[in-house]
Amino acid sequence: MKVAVIGAGYLGTTHAICMASLGHEVIAVDVDEKRVELLHSGKLPFYEPGLPELLEKVRATGLIHFTTEFSAIAECELIFICVGTPQKQGALEADLSALDSAFAAAVNFISKGAVIVGKSTVPVGTAEKLAQSLHITSPGARLNWNPEFLREGHAIADTLAPNRIVIGADSVHDAKKLSDFYRDAAPDVPQFITNFPTAELVKVAANAFLATKISFINAMSEVADATGADVALLADAIGADDRIGRKFLGAGIGFGGGCLPKDIRAFLARGEELGLSDSLAFLKEFDLINQRTRTRAVALALEELGSVKGKKVAILGVAFKPESDDVRDSPALEIAQMLASLGANVFVHDPKALESAAAKAPDLHYCQSIEDLLRGADLTMHLTEWREYRELEPERLRSLVNSATIFDGRNALDSNAWRLAGWKVRALGRTL
Ligand code: UGA
Repeated sequence: MKVAVIGAGYLGTTHAICMASLGHEVIAVDVDEKRVELLHSGKLPFYEPGLPELLEKVRATGLIHFTTEFSAIAECELIFICVGTPQKQGALEADLSALDSAFAAAVNFISKGAVIVGKSTVPVGTAEKLAQSLHITSPGARLNWNPEFLREGHAIADTLAPNRIVIGADSVHDAKKLSDFYRDAAPDVPQFITNFPTAELVKVAANAFLATKISFINAMSEVADATGADVALLADAIGADDRIGRKFLGAGIGFGGGCLPKDIRAFLARGEELGLSDSLAFLKEFDLINQRTRTRAVALALEELGSVKGKKVAILGVAFKPESDDVRDSPALEIAQMLASLGANVFVHDPKALESAAAKAPDLHYCQSIEDLLRGADLTMHLTEWREYRELEPERLRSLVNSATIFDGRNALDSNAWRLAGWKVRALGRTL
């Protein structure tokens, strides 16, 4: 099938490449000329495991085209809108301007039986409004809402083998083309065909629930700090009950990235508009808990160092999570910046995110090697749980540092091994 993907950001690029890998002809449109050039030349503007290789493969088939011209979508049967809906500056709500302009540009060129498929995360009620305007401007076309659940670092698997497909439409009949499109590629994946508000809410509610789990365990971490309990063991023990589950009970410095933080805030803002502030008030609390995990990490550094002025703090990992070069709302980067603003000499290492972090926080010191990072460090902070950090040899590293104290902000290191190698290990919600 000939399909279009509008927005060549993280979601759109992944979706376009994956759809082309299934044998569809894909026109990927973005207004950013540089980005289009880069993709056209076979390079990705972000890091995602496996995606460069898949792009190379689909480019060889000639099935993928990157362009800035919206007119190229004219013969496409499905037009996926994948633009970003970031948090509005100075407000909680989502900024829908990219979505509105992508939609307005697309309707100028769509063919009669085309289906516009919204994949961006939007406040509940958005799709209904767009569908109404589409009925007026392009009576033959239809709108579906098809939220995306892919995780950075697992984007290909989550796109090609998702655990569910949700399609919001005016009727089951209106969802048929998209439903068949996905069923051909993934016949066993459960599909939920529903109305627009449910489809929009599934996405927002899923992210809110994930954020809730993380903030819940970080609230328990605060209780553990006050009482001498161990939050990691607590998570293992409550997670062993399969009604609760261990996933997303990883206590530490909390959640970041371009999705969870802004999605719960946009949900709160939409709740207020709908007169539902009380129903969603818990999200405000969980956002605050999440922000507190960052200040608790800084407080722990102060406790260890006394004054941080002039001290060397070595940060292992600055991406918002491993297998990503994304530093949007990264807890690690914010902690690094807070320590720098208190006068610490903050040195940072990350396997993939050095460039993106340096663009956002040019005043920190960036190290290509772990040896350079740790040499003379007064405190080491493990803030993003890359596999290579778990494989470090604490014995060898001890000779490099000035003071062998490590803060494990992700509870991912083998604390016994580090202790046996002579390190003092600190963590939130744990007495190690
Ligand atoms: C999240 C959702 O998991 C995806 O399903 C969704 O499609 C995506 O947002 C989106 O809305 O586009 P992602 O932002 O890639 O995906 O990252 P997650 O794996 O959810 O992690 C989010 C944050 O939570 C990270 O900073 C991670 O370190 C943190 N986290 C995760 C914890 O602090 N503890 C945990 O136990 C798990």
